[in-house]
Amino acid sequence: MIIEPRTRGFICLTAHPKGCEQNVINQIDYIKSKGAIDGPKKVLVIGASTGFGLASRITSAFGANASTIGVYFEKPPSEGRPASPGWYNTAAFETQAHKEGLYAKSINGDAFSNEIKRQTLDLIKEDLGQVDLVIYSLASPVRTHPDTGVKYKSVLKPIGDTFQNKTVDFHTGKVTEVSIAPAEGDDIENTVAVMGGEDWKMWIDALKAEGLLAPDFNTVAYSYIGPSLTEAVYRKGTIGRAKDHLEATAFDITDTLKDVNGKAYVSVNKALVTQASSAIPVIPLYISLLYKVMKEMGIHEGCIEQIQRLFSDRLYADTIATDEQGRIRIDDWEMRDDVQAKVAELWEEATTETLPEIGDLKGYDTDFFNLFGFKVPGVDYDADVNEVVAIPGLQ
Ligand code: NAD
Ligand code: NA
Repeated sequence: MIIEPRTRGFICLTAHPKGCEQNVINQIDYIKSKGAIDGPKKVLVIGASTGFGLASRITSAFGANASTIGVYFEKPPSEGRPASPGWYNTAAFETQAHKEGLYAKSINGDAFSNEIKRQTLDLIKEDLGQVDLVIYSLASPVRTHPDTGVKYKSVLKPIGDTFQNKTVDFHTGKVTEVSIAPAEGDDIENTVAVMGGEDWKMWIDALKAEGLLAPDFNTVAYSYIGPSLTEAVYRKGTIGRAKDHLEATAFDITDTLKDVNGKAYVSVNKALVTQASSAIPVIPLYISLLYKVMKEMGIHEGCIEQIQRLFSDRLYADTIATDEQGRIRIDDWEMRDDVQAKVAELWEEATTETLPEIGDLKGYDTDFFNLFGFKVPGVDYDADVNEVVAIPGLQ
């Protein structure tokens, strides 16, 4: 069939298998171009199919020759109905990995559930024995608690006062004022239950209980801080509380890892266009200005450049540099004073009329469509493609 983008709000309902495949190949080529990393050997990536998790899996496999198991939650294709992009990304990744003789298998299902954890532990036990790195890269709006069955929904709200600021609809380029009412009721607890650290710790506890953590084991979860411009709705809002919890959980996990000489880290990453971040109000306007500034300064990075740097210059460098709160910072270039001063200046000037000039709306739009395999250079979108693609290592 011919597959075209069908957008609804900030999501795209279709995905293109060839475009997704090309994106994965481009990321693999980038990692190979940067040379070998003396990195992990057996890696579990939770949230492995898109964004930072996919980049982590690609970097592990093609940068460090690691065996990888990926866990993700993606919609399979059916005749006449394309899969979600993470399905096609994983199919492409595992095809390329197998071609080079790399072990790569995956599990599609709810990572928050006991069943998916059980399946993953069994697969590690059978095939790898142990893992030396676990990347935790889930981004989900909901979580059903495995013990109680309670379904929590996360919300993106400020805490205390109503938040009012500019935002952009990146499809139309229209800049408007948004007003977001503050969290109420159980909003904060619910958001922490979904995006905080409880599930990360459950995974590591379960792996440890069955002896599946190798000596000198590391685990990394991803966080975000961002500038004062977005603080009220992000880092000091409900999602920020969840990130505070995630960051505190790193210390709790490390406390349990003494006998394997293991350590849990949080890496604070750069703001990037992903399915998760497109849904957050105000962030798309910030990203479109940030992209413009960082591209002009020659310091722009996507997920793959970020994770390559995380592995080569932080996690597997001689010493792991952290900030005073123990966090790895690969948002260092985003947070540079000169970058933030310029973004803050442009923010004041941003209107529907000025944004196409002063912001990188085009870059935002391209990155957004690229997430779904569209607008990828070199892909023939007029050609008939088979939407029913199999993931070779899917269990
Ligand atoms: P993403 O949407 O691209 O990836 C989310 C991944 O989680 C996918 O692989 C998806 O299949 C998987 N997933 C979601 N729900 C699942 C479930 N119930 N069971 C199994 N898998 C599930 O998101 P992303 O932007 O790469 O975010 C990953 C992490 O990075 C998040 O913690 C996010 O807060 C953080 N982060 C993102 C940014 C950004 O700007 N995008 C910046 C810094 C940190
Ligand atoms: Na991810």
